[in-house]
Amino acid sequence: MKLPLPPLPTALKPKPKRPGEAERVKPLDQVKEAGIATADWVDERTSLSGVARWTMFRKVPRGTNWFYTLGSATLFAFLSQAVTGVFLAMYYDPSVTNAYESARHITNDVFLGEFVRGMHKWGSTVMVILVCLHMARTFFFGAYKYPRELNWVIGVVLLILTFVMSFTGYLLPFDQRSYWATIVGVNINGTGPIAGPFLSDFLRGGAEFGATTLSRFYAIHMLLLPGAIIALIGAHLYLVARLGTTAPPWLRAESGDGFREENV
Ligand code: HEM
Repeated sequence: MKLPLPPLPTALKPKPKRPGEAERVKPLDQVKEAGIATADWVDERTSLSGVARWTMFRKVPRGTNWFYTLGSATLFAFLSQAVTGVFLAMYYDPSVTNAYESARHITNDVFLGEFVRGMHKWGSTVMVILVCLHMARTFFFGAYKYPRELNWVIGVVLLILTFVMSFTGYLLPFDQRSYWATIVGVNINGTGPIAGPFLSDFLRGGAEFGATTLSRFYAIHMLLLPGAIIALIGAHLYLVARLGTTAPPWLRAESGDGFREENV
C-alpha cells in the first residue's frame, strides 16, 4: 500500500501567482533564452550539433577503464603547452644576443612569468611521459590492429613530433646547458645513415651552429610543429570517433569483439 506524502510546511509551498506575474520573465531566463537562440541560429546555418553528437555520443565497450583516459590526458597536456607557449612567446626574443636575457626577464620580472615558464618546462616532460603511457596502453590492448593501423601510424608520427618539440624547445633559453646539449643532439643526428648529415645541416641552418640555428629552432618549435601536431591530432580523433575504441583484450577473448550487445 502506498502511504500518502506528509503535508509540506507552509514556507516551502509554492506561492500562488500574482496577477500579471506569468508574463514577467526573469533576467536569468532571458540570458538562457538568448544563449539557446544563438546556438540555434548557428546550428541552423552549420548543422554543427550533428557533428558534436556524432563525436561525443558514442558507444564505449564494457570494461573501459582509467587507462583509456591517457589519450585525453596527452591532449590536455598539449593544450596546456600551447596556452603557456603563447604567453612565453609574448616576451621571448629569439636572437642570439637577447634570447638568454629575455628568458631571464620572464622568470625574474614578468608577473607570473616563473610560474608560466615552469608550467611549460615541466609540462613538456609530463606530455612526453603521457604520450608514452598512452602508446603503451594502445599497444597492450591491441588497438594497433585492424582497422586501427592508420591511427597507430598517425600516433607514431605524433610521438616523433612530440620528441622533436622537446628537442627544439630545449635550445630556446640559450644558456650554456641548452647550447651544448643541442650541439651534442644535432651531432648525434648527423651520424644517422644517408639522411643524417642533411638533417643536421637543416637543423643548424648551415654547416656551423650560429644565429640562424636559434631562429630556425624557434620557427620549428612554435610554428611548424604545433601546426602539424594540431592537424594530426584532428585526424587521430576523427579516426577514434569513426572506429570507436578497442575493448579490453580480456573481454574480446570472451566474446569475439567488445561491441557485442552484451559488452556495450
Ligand atoms: C599528441 C599525442 C597524442 C594524443 C593527443 C592522442 C590522443 C588520443 C585520444 C584522445 C584517444 C582516444 C582515447 C584513448 O584511447 O585514450 C586516442 C586513441 C588512440 N591513440 Fe592516441 N594520441 C596521441 C599519440 C598517440 C601515439 C604516440 C600512439 C601510438 C603510437 C597513439 C595511438 C592511438 C590508438 C591506436 C588509438 C585508438 C585506441 C583504441 O581504439 O582503443 N596515439 N589517442
